[in-house]
Order: sequence, then structure tokens, then C-alpha cells
Amino acid sequence: MKIAVLPGDGIGPEIVQQAVRVLQHFASEGASLEMETAPIGGAGYDAAGDPLPEGTLKLAKQADAVLLGAVGGPKYDTLPRPVRPEQGLLRIRKELGLFTNLRPAMVYEELAGASSLRPELVAGLDIMILRELTGDIYFGEPRGRRTTASGEREGFDTMKYSESEIARIARVGFAIARKRSRKLCSVDKANVLDTSILWREVVNEVAKDFPDVELSHMYVDNAAMQLVRAPKQFDVIVTGNMFGDILSDEASMLTGSIGMLPSASLDSASKGLYEPIHGSAPDIAGKGVANPLATILSLSMMFRYSFNDNNTADRIERAVRQVLKDGKRTVDIAGPGQTAIGTLQMGDAVIAALAGGHR
Ligand code: IPM
Ligand code: MG
Repeated sequence: MKIAVLPGDGIGPEIVQQAVRVLQHFASEGASLEMETAPIGGAGYDAAGDPLPEGTLKLAKQADAVLLGAVGGPKYDTLPRPVRPEQGLLRIRKELGLFTNLRPAMVYEELAGASSLRPELVAGLDIMILRELTGDIYFGEPRGRRTTASGEREGFDTMKYSESEIARIARVGFAIARKRSRKLCSVDKANVLDTSILWREVVNEVAKDFPDVELSHMYVDNAAMQLVRAPKQFDVIVTGNMFGDILSDEASMLTGSIGMLPSASLDSASKGLYEPIHGSAPDIAGKGVANPLATILSLSMMFRYSFNDNNTADRIERAVRQVLKDGKRTVDIAGPGQTAIGTLQMGDAVIAALAGGHR
């Protein structure tokens, strides 16, 4: 398997380095893994004047999977939009056709106290948010700025979904719900938006092929509220790009530890890009204190979804649980009275747990 490694900016390189060490551990056990690194985001701009340099895109297209750190930083905030780091991320999603974004939000028993909600509301929480990733207002045309007849500046974007785009993400949603608790909640704004009325219609049509899955619909404002009121009512949520962006950040905070949450972005053949959902955290970059576990858990998703290797995926998850059980904490997840370890030490701990655990 060839893995394109795109560390990106901020803490990206530090956390990705620990994930690469985990991959090297599997290689030392005999797994055939090849890794090649390339710049993206601000690093891409610095290296080639482009947040998604041609060579990086070519490598990502050739590879079997992509591991990404994070992009962005204050240094790049004033650049013109086409060369800003986020554009690298949006373009690689579009270019690789990664329309399915899986964002699990789960609470580790050892960390339930870290949530801003009461522990009983979140203990055992395990939600999977499926966000459509290549359509919607993120990519809709026309968009831009213009001057109105009265001489006022006006900005505009286009929210848009075709029925095929809705149907394919809905199908993935039902298929994933089938493997979990057979409950799927589709989130839209069908009381206001035409895009959402079509969304709901098409999801209902697709539902006919999945009679064993219980489908519900919820307006996005209510979903935002329900997520903090009673999050355990949800299992799999499927929604569009914009609503998914917002709800997945909200859901991540339910766990109290955004540094723990991985993500997968998949195409129709399950080739994927794997990245932690936290950002580049420029404030702590270079200090060796960032939590590498979300990136390491992204590898677990890579083995599960792109390499069809549930055994290795399970081993990574067990190793992470083990280090948490052993009381190992980076500063973002350290509770009162717990001593924090650094990025490298956390990587060491995971590799030691992998080496010592069952294969
Ligand atoms: C995310 C991020 C991106 C998005 C930004 C950085 C473009 O917020 O992955 O959720 O909005 O999709
Ligand atoms: Mg976001």
C-alpha cells in the first residue's frame, strides 16, 4: 500500500510524524507500506506558490490512501483567497472525488469528565456524522461579489445539490447505519430551502432500498439543539456539506477532546484521505505538546475503510484505549492532578502498546 503523507502546517508535521512511526511499526512487523511526503496548505504555498502543488496532487492521486495533518496559520491569513491554505484542502477533496466525510464523535470512558456537558449525558456517546463533502454552497456556482444597481457591494454564493449527489451520500449513510444500530437521521432545512426539500425527497426515495433502517428527518437548527440537549439519541447523521461542517464541530466538542477525533473522506471506491478533525493549532505548533492520537486514530480508519484490514484498525484502537487506561495524557486531555506528556512520548506509548498487545 502506498500512502501519501501530507503533514501541512502548524502542529501538522509533529502529529503526522507520530502516525508515520506507527506505520513504520507495522512495516517492521512485515506489512508492505510505502510512504511519500509532500507539502500542502501553507507549506505548499511556501514550496511552490500553490496550496495544492501539482506534485502533491499527482502523488495523492497515485497513492492508495492519503494521510493529512492540518492546514492553515496566521502567516497565511492575508493571502488572496485562491492561494490560501484551506483552498488546498477544498481542492484535494474535489479533485479526488471524496464526497463522503465520516466524522465519528465518541467519548472514551476515561475522558468522559472532559466534556462541557454533564458526564451522564455523554458517557458512552458514539455518533457517526456523515457529511457530504464535494457539493453544496461550498462549491456551487455562481458565486462572488458584485455591485448592485444602487451601488452597494454584494456577496453571493449558491447552495445547490443534484439528485445524484444526494442519492449517493444517502446510500452510504444507509449502508453505514446498517452496520451500526440501523438508525439514520437526515438533517436539512426543508422548511425554508428548496435544496433541502429535494434533499429530503431523494433521501426518502433511497430509503425504499433500505427498509431495515429506521429513517428520521430533522431540521438543522433543531439538530444543533438536540446535540447538546440529548446527544445519545443520535447514531448516524447524514447531512450536506455546510450543515455537516457546523454540526461536526459541535459534536466534536461533546467529547471534550477534539484532539482525539479522526476523520475519513472517501470516494466511491473507498480510496480515502484521513485527517484529524482538529486544526493546525498555530498557538502550540513546534512545542512538542500536541496530541497525536486523532492522527493515529485516523490511521485506524485508513486500515478499516481503505485497506479493508479491520484487524490492524482494531489493534490501533485498542492501543489508544490502553494508553488512556494507563493514564497517559497530553496537555489537552489531562485532568486535574494528571501530568501531561508530550507528542513524542504519546507516540512512544502507542507504539509500546502495539508491540505489547495481541496482534
Ligand atoms: C473542515 C474545515 C474546512 C471546511 C475548512 C478549513 C475549509 O472547517 O474540514 O471542517 O470548512 O470544510
Ligand atoms: Mg469545519
